[in-house]
Amino acid sequence: MDRKEFLGLVGTSIGAIVLGSCLQSCKKQNNSPTAPTVDFTLDLNSSTNSALLSNGGYLYSNGVIVAKTTTGTFIAVSQACTHQGSAVIFQPVGNSFQCNSHGAKFASNGTVTNGPANSNLKQYTCTLTGTSLRVNG
Ligand code: FES
Repeated sequence: MDRKEFLGLVGTSIGAIVLGSCLQSCKKQNNSPTAPTVDFTLDLNSSTNSALLSNGGYLYSNGVIVAKTTTGTFIAVSQACTHQGSAVIFQPVGNSFQCNSHGAKFASNGTVTNGPANSNLKQYTCTLTGTSLRVNG
C-alpha cells in the first residue's frame, strides 16, 4: 500500500465514522414524546382558567395546551413539541402553535407546518357546556 492508497483509506474511514455519528444524533432529535390520553374539564369561572376568557389566550393543563382562537373557538393539542419535548406556545396570529426551542410550527389542529419536528401534535376535542370546557381525546 502506497501513501496515496493509505490516505484514501483513512479518509474514507473517517468519513464513514462522521456520517454514522451524524445520522445517529439526527435520529435522536425527533423523539416524539407520547401524547397523553386525557379527559378533564376546566371551569371558566375559575381565576386559574381566566386566560381562556380572552380570544388569543391559552393555558396548559394535564399535558395539553388549550387555546381560545381569535374567533372564540376552543382548540387543544398536546403541549410537548414532537421534536425534543419543549412546551409549545399558542400564536394568535394564524391560530397556530410554535416551539421556541428550535422553531417548529404546527397548525391549529397540530399538523406540523415547519420543522425540525416531523410528527404532529395530538389534537383533542373541546366541548363547551355553559362555563365548563371539557377537553378529551
Ligand atoms: S424542541 Fe426542538 S423545535 Fe421544539
